[in-house]
Amino acid sequence: MNFLDDAKSVLLQLDHYLNQTINKQNKVINQESIDEIQKKLCLQDHVEKGDLTGKNLDTFLSQYFENVTRLHHPCYLAHQVGTTHPSGALGSLIDGFTNNPMAIYEMGPSAAAVEFFMINLILSKIGWNKMPSRIKERLTFSHGSGVLTHGGSLANLTALLAAQNNLDKDIREKGNPGDLTILVPESSHYSIAKAAGIMGIGEQNVILLKTDKNGTVLPDRLKDAYQEAKDKNKRIVALVANACSTATGLYDPVDEIADFCNENGIWFHVDGAHGACALFTDKHKYRFKGVQKADSLIIDAHKMLRTPNLCAAILVKDANTLDLVFQQKASYLFHEKNQPGFDFIQQAIECTKAGLGIKFYFVLAAMGEKGMAAYIERQFDLTTEAHNYIHQQDDFECPCRPQSNILCFRYNGSDDLQLAIRDKLIEEGSFYISSTNLEDKRFLRIVLMSPYTTMEEIKELVFAIRELANSEGS
Ligand SMILES: Cc1ncc(COP(=O)(O)O)c(C=O)c1O
Repeated sequence: MNFLDDAKSVLLQLDHYLNQTINKQNKVINQESIDEIQKKLCLQDHVEKGDLTGKNLDTFLSQYFENVTRLHHPCYLAHQVGTTHPSGALGSLIDGFTNNPMAIYEMGPSAAAVEFFMINLILSKIGWNKMPSRIKERLTFSHGSGVLTHGGSLANLTALLAAQNNLDKDIREKGNPGDLTILVPESSHYSIAKAAGIMGIGEQNVILLKTDKNGTVLPDRLKDAYQEAKDKNKRIVALVANACSTATGLYDPVDEIADFCNENGIWFHVDGAHGACALFTDKHKYRFKGVQKADSLIIDAHKMLRTPNLCAAILVKDANTLDLVFQQKASYLFHEKNQPGFDFIQQAIECTKAGLGIKFYFVLAAMGEKGMAAYIERQFDLTTEAHNYIHQQDDFECPCRPQSNILCFRYNGSDDLQLAIRDKLIEEGSFYISSTNLEDKRFLRIVLMSPYTTMEEIKELVFAIRELANSEGS
């Protein structure tokens, strides 16, 4: 194998892939069966011969791209997964090659320093004090903390574990006494219910916050859930807000919820996996007014911050809470040592942790903070424009005005029709959209992630949906 030649051919093919994709020369989605794909890629053959290099690699890649779902495509409108910035992909390559499990400082000082920098950058956007880089100063004054995790679900779990440990330090060692609850809007991402299950709180013991018809938390009804917890003799681990919610992209009122939590001594966790990108823009950060009064927040860089999967961050206002959450005994890792850096391993569920910071940093440093803000604002503004256009169509209905880059709408007709439309679009490979239930009604849902999507694609989508609906009806 010649590494440089193979690397060049991979990069050339990726460049070609990107150009074809943004110019719509391929379907946005193409799904052949597992057997067909395995055969075309000659998977078994290459394993037997060990020959995936040179021309074979080239052929393999051309075949591989045939069944890649193209996130850079202007008609990719489905899920909240980042349209990666090419610089981020280079970051992934460097991390994959060097393979430094940087949670122990000596196993990746550069990667750890970059992660440290990125955590501090987000802390300062939230308005929490940065971590001191001189480790002897850690916890000698009040400051925040955080760690990059392999995804938002793990970040939410980490935040809730920190909240639980803050409530009762015995639980970690002695087990869950069965009197715990989390207050959460029904519209929250399923990773919160999953965390309640994993933590032994029990998914059924989660108490739902009252929301409006679009699933946004009603601040003057927070006391209902609080009272319910008291009536059931439950101790509240945390109250979780969506900023923004997965289905509709709407923001819960962070400021008012923070005040309620502070008044009642409740840990306030903000799930900003998708929507905390607003903290990176002057125009939209007002959605996070009061966020510095929260206790924890998560953000997925692999969603709106254009970073390759996976890269999420969990941030806490008080570093003490995260420093204490996972204390473990492992004599080969945890012992006194003289080192110039910081071990993130105490904060993380993972033991071996990738150098996630480098791909995130590469994106931000390539786009610059202004470039990142411009991208986010563009996507949010385009979504508002798309809403205004779709809302004007007599045969379409929108349940709410968008507040981010997620938009729900419905074509006149049954729930089955919405699903049939989505299936048909995907089968054709012309558009890739998602769908969601709101108040027991099925809606089509678009998430405008690709910086290459314009109003032209939105108008074409409306046209395509109308045509399909008419042909389904006839
Ligand atoms: C609001 C919210 N929280 C958490 C998650 C989970 O993040 P991940 O997919 O990175 O685990 C998502 C994913 O879409 C989300 O939308």
